[in-house]
Amino acid sequence: MTSAEIRNKFLTFFEGKGHHIVPSSPIVLKDDPTLLFTNAGMNQFKDYFLGNKPAPYKRVVDTQKCLRVSGKHNDLEEVGVDTYHHTMFEMLGNWSFGDYFKKEAISWSWELLTEEYGIDKDRLYATVFEGDAKENIPASTIALGIWKELLPADHIVFGNKKDNFWEMGDTGPCGPCSEIHVDCRSDEERAAVPGQLLVNKDHPQVIEIWNNVFIQYNRLKDGTLQPLAATHVDTGMGLERLVRVLQGKSSNYDTDIFSGSIQTTELISGKKYTAGDSKPDVAFRVLADHIRAIAFTIADGQLPSNTGAGYVIRRILRRAVRYYYTYLDVKEPMLHQLLPGLAEQFKEVFPELQAQLGFIA
Ligand code: ALA
Repeated sequence: MTSAEIRNKFLTFFEGKGHHIVPSSPIVLKDDPTLLFTNAGMNQFKDYFLGNKPAPYKRVVDTQKCLRVSGKHNDLEEVGVDTYHHTMFEMLGNWSFGDYFKKEAISWSWELLTEEYGIDKDRLYATVFEGDAKENIPASTIALGIWKELLPADHIVFGNKKDNFWEMGDTGPCGPCSEIHVDCRSDEERAAVPGQLLVNKDHPQVIEIWNNVFIQYNRLKDGTLQPLAATHVDTGMGLERLVRVLQGKSSNYDTDIFSGSIQTTELISGKKYTAGDSKPDVAFRVLADHIRAIAFTIADGQLPSNTGAGYVIRRILRRAVRYYYTYLDVKEPMLHQLLPGLAEQFKEVFPELQAQLGFIA
């Protein structure tokens, strides 16, 4: 399956379960002082969770443009060095606003991954929140019970607040979560060390692909957790990681999402990408990643500048320039040459790149 087919399958699967397909909100946030950029699919739905506004639909599904380089979820220095962190990424998500809860969310995620996408059940692991006495949050026994019907006990891992309690930022909607991890190692490696021991241990081949969050609280400014009037579902699956798993690659950069930019960079630099750990290889990945963050944020209205959100984009832009100048020996501006391919690739789902190509360049 191509990345476009994989994205479409997600949307139509949940449409078939009564969800309304909605567009991504802009990656640039102008009306939420707690965030600079959209960092999760749920940001645009914050007011529905908090009960500040009624949700127009009880169930929605989308693919959301996200950026994680500042604030709570900060991955910038990992990007390009490893093979599965990104600045800009697409988060596939399904939501329930006071409608279905844990049973349906978990069962549908399992059905989609194993029956529709055909991921081997043997390779999947689920994490469950172990509870937190200090905050008086109980362990997720309901999620555990649901997973036990789907997975053997040695494929279920308990996690603490850091991994299994999701919060949007310092304040806002939050709740316990149950992640799904996939073990992409060879059969030999899997026989030698059980995947259960590698979940949430930064192993490059045992990676989280989907997070099912059960929104039940609002984190207030003074740090207290206020239970919400209704319970909600917020899920997020990184498209780039999912595509890598389904396309059988060991790196996100070997998928059809990034290969176009890497090939164009090869043409411009006259160097070859060898998918290794050398500085030039890191540079290929940095460029393939950063051009997306830069292009999509500019298209959504955030220009590079010397303060706030604009400075975040300037830092990404500088990091990209530094990498091609230093490690690929390209001494002329080159990022704009990656844009036409990117705009073509995303023209069906995010036509804003094509529409503003000249301006972004
Ligand atoms: N909001 C959850 C996350 O970003 C799904 O992981």
